[in-house]
This record gives sequence, C-alpha cells and structure tokens, in this order.
Amino acid sequence: MLAIKDTDLPNIIELKNISQTYSNGKDFIIKDLDFLIEDKPGQGQFVVILGASGCGKSTLLRYIAGLQNPTSGQVLLREKPVQESGIRAGMVFQQYSSLPWMTVLENVELGLSFQQVDAKERRRRAQEMIEMVGLAGHENKYAVYPTLSGGQLQRIAIARSIIASPDILLMDEPFGALDINTRLQMQDLLEDIWLKFQPTIVFVTHDIEEAVYLADDIYIMAANPGRFVHHISVDLPFNRNMEVKHSAQFNEIVRRVEDRMIEVARM
Ligand SMILES: Nc1ncnc2c1ncn2[C@@H]1O[C@H](COP(=O)(O)OP(=O)(O)O)[C@@H](O)[C@H]1O
Ligand SMILES: [Mg+2]
Repeated sequence: MLAIKDTDLPNIIELKNISQTYSNGKDFIIKDLDFLIEDKPGQGQFVVILGASGCGKSTLLRYIAGLQNPTSGQVLLREKPVQESGIRAGMVFQQYSSLPWMTVLENVELGLSFQQVDAKERRRRAQEMIEMVGLAGHENKYAVYPTLSGGQLQRIAIARSIIASPDILLMDEPFGALDINTRLQMQDLLEDIWLKFQPTIVFVTHDIEEAVYLADDIYIMAANPGRFVHHISVDLPFNRNMEVKHSAQFNEIVRRVEDRMIEVARM
C-alpha cells in the first residue's frame, strides 16, 4: 500500500481497494490498488504516473473523470463518490480532441458549456485563455491539422480544459505525439498554467525527464495486475525552469526513477 497520508488535510482524490476485471474475475487488470492525493489548498499538486503500457494508467484516469466505474472498490473525490462530489475533472488526451469543424475560439468556449456563463463573458474568457496558451491570432482558424500544428492543437485542448477552472486536470500522455522542442515548450506552458490556476494535476507519461521536471510526486505502477509499487517525491524548486535540468539534483532523481522502472519491469 502506497497511499501516503502525512497531514490531516482532506483528500482530493482517493482510490480505495480498486480491482478491475473484464473476464468475471479470471484475469485482473487492476487488483487491490490504493491511491491518495491530498488537497493542499492554494498549492495544487502535480502528480505524475509512470508505468508500462497496459498497466492501467488510462483506466485510473477514466475512474477519476467519472467515465468508468471499477469492478470493485471506491473512487472518492473530496471524500465523496465521483458522481456525488460535484467535481468535474478536465481531461487532455494524447490524440487531439478538438472539434475540427469549429474554430479555435469556439473550441475553447466549449470548455464553459457546462457553466452558466453568458455569451459575451464566455467569449472574453476564451480570448484571455487563447492568449495565455499562445494562440492569439489563430482564433478564427479551424482546429484541424495541418491548418494548426500538433502543438497548437494541444494548446487548444489545454485551454479548453483549464478555462472551466477544474479542481482536477487529468492528462493522458498529452505531449507524447509532439516533437521534442514543442514538447519542451508545452512543459513550460503547463508549468505556468499550473502555477497560475493550481489545480491538482494527474499526468501520465512515459518520459522520465518530463516526469521529474513536472512532478511534485511520481508514482510508479507495475502491471499484471496493475497497482502502485513506488512513490518518489521530487525535491526540486517549486517554480522550475530549463536550468534545473542541468543540475546534479535533477539528474540524480532521473537516475533513481530509471532504476525503479527497470526494477519494476523485472517484477
Ligand atoms: N473494455 C475493455 N475490455 C477488455 N480489456 C480492456 C478494456 N479496456 C481496457 N482493457 C485492458 O486493460 C488494460 C489496461 O488498459 P489501460 O488503462 O489503457 O492501460 P495503460 O493506459 O496503462 O496503457 C489493458 O491491458 C487493456 O487492454
Ligand atoms: Mg493509456
């Protein structure tokens, strides 16, 4: 059990004794999994999950988003079952999820469609968000590749999910399809957004440097059945920049995570 409870703070996300089977219990994709993220007010939490393909990472995000229920166990947001919690988590996927028949502006406005916001205010906030993610000047283009690049399409997805000020932002390998320079830019954009809005972020990646750069806490999953086996707390400055990647401290943590990943692959 890796659930870490080191304060009296309430929990923003809690997975309790989760199991998942699609074969009436013959095969468990996830078994006896526990996971806990405390709600640290005004601080946010940046949690990164690492683990081999198929270990159940996307499945966990779907539970938290309320898109799927586990076979057994409890998924609690602020200590209530997802559906009763009133918490709507934003989600960003690897595949571009923008609607190609709508413009950039319309796509970002969609993020407010569950809230009572009048059209004028919706437009104003969308415009502000578009500027924040570096898409000013592209408002009226259709959100389609190659009119917009992969990185620009991911900027739309981030703007759309963050505009509603979600308490939780779920990101499933969001930068996995981007070239290295775009990926690095997006990491810094996300860092800025996180500092500004302070949501709890649960971020899935296969890239260890990305994990260390972004995370407060890294959790490593093992597969067959999926469960958490390691927690690494990333002791680096709160407000990071590219410089930190050259530090001995950063590289030491990267190596520590790599060793754990190798160990887990052999389990
Ligand atoms: N509807 C389903 N029916 C059967 N197996 C599924 C279903 N959805 C997911 N799986 C299996 O569950 C496992 C975990 O999937 P997933 O959460 O997508 O893993 P990850 O995101 O870590 O790669 C995989 O082996 C996948 O094939
Ligand atoms: Mg996945």
